[in-house]
Amino acid sequence: MDLGLEGKVALVTGAARGIGRAEALALAAEGARIVINDIDPEGAARCVEDLRQAGHDAAAAPGDVSDTAGAEAVVRAAGAAFGRLDILVNNAGAGGRHLGRKAEDLDVEDFDIIVRTHLRSTFLCSKHAVPLMRAGGFGRIVNTSSMNVTGGGRPGVTNYSAAKAGVLGYTRTMAKEVGGDGITVNAIAPGYVATEFIATFSPEKRAVITGQNPMGRFCQPEEVGALVAFLCSTQAAFINGALICMDGGKRDFHWGDT
Ligand SMILES: NC(=O)c1ccc[n+]([C@@H]2O[C@H](COP(=O)([O-])OP(=O)(O)OC[C@H]3O[C@@H](n4cnc5c(N)ncnc54)[C@H](O)[C@@H]3O)[C@@H](O)[C@H]2O)c1
Repeated sequence: MDLGLEGKVALVTGAARGIGRAEALALAAEGARIVINDIDPEGAARCVEDLRQAGHDAAAAPGDVSDTAGAEAVVRAAGAAFGRLDILVNNAGAGGRHLGRKAEDLDVEDFDIIVRTHLRSTFLCSKHAVPLMRAGGFGRIVNTSSMNVTGGGRPGVTNYSAAKAGVLGYTRTMAKEVGGDGITVNAIAPGYVATEFIATFSPEKRAVITGQNPMGRFCQPEEVGALVAFLCSTQAAFINGALICMDGGKRDFHWGDT
């Protein structure tokens, strides 16, 4: 199937590693020109180099997309890199030490950084990308939600669940605002994806997670990349305001879940 992505320009945020990197590779494999954002400039440069080595057009736009001026500068740089902007994948994410405490013990700083990184960045980048997409007559925005939204979230991640639920609400409403301009806005809800983060889990914790999943395994970053490439394609023009789950069928959490 021709996804119609040849020559399209895609900005992927938080793409130095993990899911974002896989999304960038998947879009590049379909002929898109890629702009790699990350708050880690060296990581972004490494990803750009890898893409170029593989024969793809790529440029870096490092910066903090949760910051008001930072996000605007990143989107402007992305639009300037190849003279247009067609695709925005809002993927940048933080977790780790900011997660794991129940609501009453959660620091305000940990709430704020998670909401900023996941939700505020999605708002800021989308706001600045839409005029560029409208100018080109084509637009695809893919936002990153989570199965913490579809399943309500496990204890200890109220900040993350709130941010990812916000991403979903933002997606559904914005889809109605821009659909008439040939721009679609969708959200994905991956389950546990085998990234660097998951690699830090103990073998016991990994076994519990895969044991609870109907597929008996983790999702692979390349599978998320393939989904995102399709959602960004010309074939997906009538998918708008949707939440696509990619969780192997494990959509709920119970007490004791890891
Ligand atoms: N890994 C999973 O199991 C999983 C499941 C569901 C959803 N997600 C979501 O997918 C996305 C990617 O997850 P991942 O596992 O690849 O994470 P990751 O931590 O491996 O990668 C996230 C990237 O975002 C970058 N980043 C962080 N803050 C940033 C900022 N303010 N501006 C620009 N870049 C920033 C980081 O430097 C990092 O390279 C996140 O939104 C995450 O919440 C992940």
